[in-house]
Amino acid sequence: MSPHWESLDRIHTMMTLDFTTGQKEDILDLSRAIVIFVFDGIPNLIIDDAVGFRNHAASTDEQGTIYMMLEYLEPATPDAILGLNEAYNNDPNPAKINLSVGVYKDASGTTPVLSTVKEAETRLHSSEVSKSYLPMTGLAAFNKTVQTLLFGSDCELIGSGRIATAQTPGGTGALRVAGDFLHTMFPDATVWLSEPTWPNHPGIFAAAGIEVQTYPYFDATSNSLAFDAMIDRFHTIPAGDIVLLHGCCHNPTGVDPSPAQWETIAEVIRSRALLPLVDFAYQGFGDGMEQDATGLRTLSRHVDEMLICNSFSKNFSLYNERVGALTLIARSAQEAETAMGHIKLRIRTNYSNPPAHGGGIVAAVLADEGLKAQWHLEVDSMRERIRSMRELFVRTLAKKGAEQDFSFMQQQRGMFSFSGLTPPQVAKLRKEYSIYIVTSGRVNVAGMTESNMDTLCEAIVAVLD
Ligand code: LMR
Repeated sequence: MSPHWESLDRIHTMMTLDFTTGQKEDILDLSRAIVIFVFDGIPNLIIDDAVGFRNHAASTDEQGTIYMMLEYLEPATPDAILGLNEAYNNDPNPAKINLSVGVYKDASGTTPVLSTVKEAETRLHSSEVSKSYLPMTGLAAFNKTVQTLLFGSDCELIGSGRIATAQTPGGTGALRVAGDFLHTMFPDATVWLSEPTWPNHPGIFAAAGIEVQTYPYFDATSNSLAFDAMIDRFHTIPAGDIVLLHGCCHNPTGVDPSPAQWETIAEVIRSRALLPLVDFAYQGFGDGMEQDATGLRTLSRHVDEMLICNSFSKNFSLYNERVGALTLIARSAQEAETAMGHIKLRIRTNYSNPPAHGGGIVAAVLADEGLKAQWHLEVDSMRERIRSMRELFVRTLAKKGAEQDFSFMQQQRGMFSFSGLTPPQVAKLRKEYSIYIVTSGRVNVAGMTESNMDTLCEAIVAVLD
C-alpha cells in the first residue's frame, strides 16, 4: 500500500510516503506541521510533528495501521494550584505545610465535614427512593435556595421569573458552562479578567474558545485595590464584552471593593453596556453571608442582565461533592427562559445533568430553619478561625524577626492573601522547608494552624533575608 498524505496550512512540501518500504526521508525537510495520513480515503492519523512521524513510522504494520499518537505528547505543565497540591501529597517530609489549594482546615489541620452536612446526609439517605437522572438544570429546590442565598428572600427578583438557575458540578462547572454559552451565542465577545485572577479562569475561557483580556486590579505597592486604573479600563471596554468580577474574597489577593466602590463599578458596567459575570465562591468567608453579597446585589440593582457562578465547596465544605450553580438574570421572564434554554444545550454537551448528592445536601440544610441557623454558625466559625490566623501570622512573623511589615494581610478577606513573597522565595520555601505556596505568593490562610505557625514563620523569615 502506498498511502498518500494531505497537508493542512502549516505543511511545507508535498510528498508521497510508502509505508511498506519505509521511504520517508524527505519528511525531514518539514518543520513542525500538522499532517493527516489518508489510507483508502480515510484519515488515519493527525500529528503535529512531522519529525516525530519519521522516527516512528517503522511501527506501521502490513495493513497500514499506525500505532502512535500519545507517545508524541510533551509533558503537560502542572496546574498552578492542583499540581502543587499533588506535589505536596507526594512529599515525604512529615513537617510539610500546605498553603496552596484553597481548602479550609480546622485547628487540628483537618478539612471537616460540617455537622449540618452530616445531618442532611442522614436524612437524605433514609428518604432517597431513586437515583434516576436529575433534569439538565439540576434539583429545582436547590436552584430556588441558591437564588435566595445570593439575593435575599425579600429581593424582588425572586419569583419574578427574571432569574433562572442551573445546578452545576462546582463553581468551575458553572464557569465552563457560562463560557460555552457566551462563546456560542456571542462569538465576538471578549471576557475581561482581573489581573491577577484565579489561575484557572484564563484556561476555562480559553477552553470555551473565548478571547481573554485583563483589567488592572491590584496595586502591589500599597497592597490595595487599583480602583482608579480598573475603572479607567472599564471605560475603554467595548459594549457587549463580559467583565468577570469576584463577588467577594478576591482570589488570589483577598482585596475587595468597598460598598461605595461597588456602586461605581455597577454604574460603569451599566453605562458601558457590559455583561457582568460574577464568580462567587466564598460567600460567608469575608464579612458574613449577607455582607459578602453586597457587590452582587449592588450590580443587580443597576444592570438588567448578569450571570453568577457560585460554589458550595467552601461554605458547605463540600469540595469533593462538586456542587455549584450558574444563575442568570435577564430583563424579562421570557428572555430568562430563552437564555436558560441555550444554557441547557451547553450542559447537555458537557456533562448532561449534574450529580445529585451535593445539591441535595445544600437544599436540605437550607430548607430547615434549625439546620440553616446551625450552618450559619459553622460558617461563622470557619471565617473567624481564618481571621484569627491572619492576626497570629502577622504577630508571629514580627516575633520571629521579620523586618517586612505584613500587617496589610489583616485587612484582606477570605481564604487567601497575596503575601508579597517572590517566586524565588516561594521556590526556596518548597525546596528547603516543604512549605507549599502558589508561585504568585498567594497563601491559603485557612491552611495555617496554631501548631504549624512557628515553623511556617521561621521558614518565611529565613527566606526573606
Ligand atoms: C483555589 O483557588 O485554590 C481553589 O479555588 C481550588 C481550585 O480549584 O483551584
